[in-house]
Amino acid sequence: MTDTLLQQTWDVLQEQEDAIRSAFFERLIDTHPEYLDRLAQPELLEAMGSVEALLEMLTWLQEAPEDDIPYIARLGGLFAASDIGFDDMDRFREVMLEVLDEYGRKSMPEWGAAHLEAWNEAFELRLIPHLLEGMQQAA
Ligand code: HEM
Repeated sequence: MTDTLLQQTWDVLQEQEDAIRSAFFERLIDTHPEYLDRLAQPELLEAMGSVEALLEMLTWLQEAPEDDIPYIARLGGLFAASDIGFDDMDRFREVMLEVLDEYGRKSMPEWGAAHLEAWNEAFELRLIPHLLEGMQQAA
């Protein structure tokens, strides 16, 4: 059920992927300008607002939970090297949910609390724990 809601979001919002990425980046830097100084290449943060990349990561986690997932290990290594921790990831979750809520409300008549909760769970129960694990392995 949860994944159906995530997939539904992508089906509708993929046409607005670029706008969503920019909105995520702008909102993130507005709320947390310190990231511009903290990261060697802050412009890479724009990649972060990619709903497609997040879904891809979730699919990997689901299909190969026991395997070493190189992509996540790479991200874990990058985050560990940049001193990124749980609080940073939680801020990302918050900003991404705000942006998704905004675009969902605008473009999806069926958008509602269940969609938002599905995305929240994807971050809290799957993406963030696995990234933290990847970081521990990279340390
Ligand atoms: C729940 C939190 C996070 C998730 C799920 C996540 C996920 C991702 C994903 C899927 C990508 C790849 C995008 C692509 O290949 O197009 C990515 C890239 C990146 N992320 Fe995150 N991220 C999170 C938090 C953060 C935080 C807190 C930072 C820094 C403050 C950060 C910095 C970056 C950077 C700089 C890249 C680009 C890496 C590169 O292309 O070399 N991310 N992240």
